[in-house]
Amino acid sequence: MELTGKLAEAFNNQVTLELSAATVYRQLAVEMDVQSLPGIAGWFRAQAAEEIVHAEKFMTHMTDRAAHPRIGEQQAPALNVKSVADAFEASLAHEQKVSEAIRELYRLAQTESDIDSMPLLHWFIDEQVEEEATVGEILDRVRMIGDNGAGLLRLDAELGARQSQEA
Ligand code: FEO
Repeated sequence: MELTGKLAEAFNNQVTLELSAATVYRQLAVEMDVQSLPGIAGWFRAQAAEEIVHAEKFMTHMTDRAAHPRIGEQQAPALNVKSVADAFEASLAHEQKVSEAIRELYRLAQTESDIDSMPLLHWFIDEQVEEEATVGEILDRVRMIGDNGAGLLRLDAELGARQSQEA
């Protein structure tokens, strides 16, 4: 079934938001590189790559349903990151914003009786629960570590391992 105009517009906004998330994560990666934490930087870079995949998923669904994806103007907020905790706080805040946007999409799909987009939106709802949980857990640990350099280096090594696992 063809995507309705209202939903197509909302999907487009979501594509733009996912791409904005990729930009936020790229900037967070840079911030961690600046602080000489290459493992955490790599983790944020992998997260940025995942956001591109999310945007692609929405665009594929749109083209599959005779809609025309159009990437809008990206709004990447200026980040003031002075610590690793700041970086993960920014990440969690952004994920929460994305989660709410997905819920809004879901509500709209329900209003429009758009059954065909439900499996995709369910996937994203699950994904957001997982993303918020992952970032929240890392943030808890970062707060526990505080100013402990050894702890931070251990976390850097651990998060850096994500790249080799996913490579
Ligand atoms: Fe695509 Fe991390 O939300």
